[in-house]
Amino acid sequence: MLVLGVETSCDETAAAVVEDGWRVLSNSVWSQVAGHAPYGGVVPELASRAHVETIARVVDDALSAAGVGWPAIDRLAVTRGPGLASSLLIGMTAVKALALRTAKPYFTVNHLQAHVYACFLGNDGQAGPREDEKVLALLVSGGHTCLAWMEGVNTYRLVGRTLDDAAGEALDKGACLLGLGYPGGPAIEKAAAGGDAKRWPFPVGHLRSHVPTGGLDPGLCFSFSGVKTALRVMLERNPPCQGDRADLAAGYQHAVFSALLERVALAADRLHPDGIVCGGGVLRNASFRKALQETAAVRGIQLYLAEPAYCADNAAMVAALAGCPRYVQQPGGWDGDIQPRLSLETA
Ligand code: KG4
Ligand code: ZN
Repeated sequence: MLVLGVETSCDETAAAVVEDGWRVLSNSVWSQVAGHAPYGGVVPELASRAHVETIARVVDDALSAAGVGWPAIDRLAVTRGPGLASSLLIGMTAVKALALRTAKPYFTVNHLQAHVYACFLGNDGQAGPREDEKVLALLVSGGHTCLAWMEGVNTYRLVGRTLDDAAGEALDKGACLLGLGYPGGPAIEKAAAGGDAKRWPFPVGHLRSHVPTGGLDPGLCFSFSGVKTALRVMLERNPPCQGDRADLAAGYQHAVFSALLERVALAADRLHPDGIVCGGGVLRNASFRKALQETAAVRGIQLYLAEPAYCADNAAMVAALAGCPRYVQQPGGWDGDIQPRLSLETA
């Protein structure tokens, strides 16, 4: 089963060819970071224009890098949401046009589910959890942070979520306040190297029991707005000198990751999963990966992490999920539409 996948939910124009739900034959990603950096974040109109300009080239590149032609492709797959509406539309329209032109079926994929599924990529198809394992999923991206039971590769039940900013968003905003540039996650990781995380304590965002969580356990939910405000107030009161920045970056990053790790540990102790899977751009961070490994290891829980190459937005995860035998098919009809506000729970 050879799938050509397309991903345009935010500021990466990506296409990939994946076999049998795990073997990545090509993974072409055109990042728009340089175009958005002067604005300190993604400008939706610029993103959609850049997708229009590059999508055809990226699809051609994915096919030639995989060494296959159109006749070999069995199906197409595209991200239908969540994401920026104007960006999702470009990928969806391109894939509908390609499906019509090549007379191949196309399937639509939930971007958040694809991030978690990224843990299955590579390693002879043995990388992800088995079907009979009781698995808790942690998604940590720029727009979403949540904990959920993984009941199937595209079936999830939420157990916790952020009530305000996502973890990646908190890192991006913190980096902006620290003058470290965009995107913030990698900038903070670099600035924090060698910094003293204990010099300035930042809040970890514990939620009081009366906070409305939509029926979810407040102990398993996240809040990152406080840590961002703490940094802003700290910087206003004591403008940092050059040497302080590493310590501030280290302390801030430590607080964001501690909030994630605390919830994972609590969920593991309360819910007793056999395994934990994790995906999303924040998982590119080496110290966070290490800390997650320690959290799982002391509890004897199997941990499945997406490889760093498949953590940030890419189309391999989209093509892989749509080609997985366990994927409950979501065919895209000609009137199928994008869903910019999709949750992890929606198949
Ligand atoms: O999953 P992703 O590529 O896009 C979304 O679906 O949102 O995640 C992007 C997020 C950004 O917030 C970015 O700062 C963060 O992932 N990120 C990192 C690192 N690389 C990217 N965060 C921490 N450390 C990194 N090395
Ligand atoms: Zn993403």
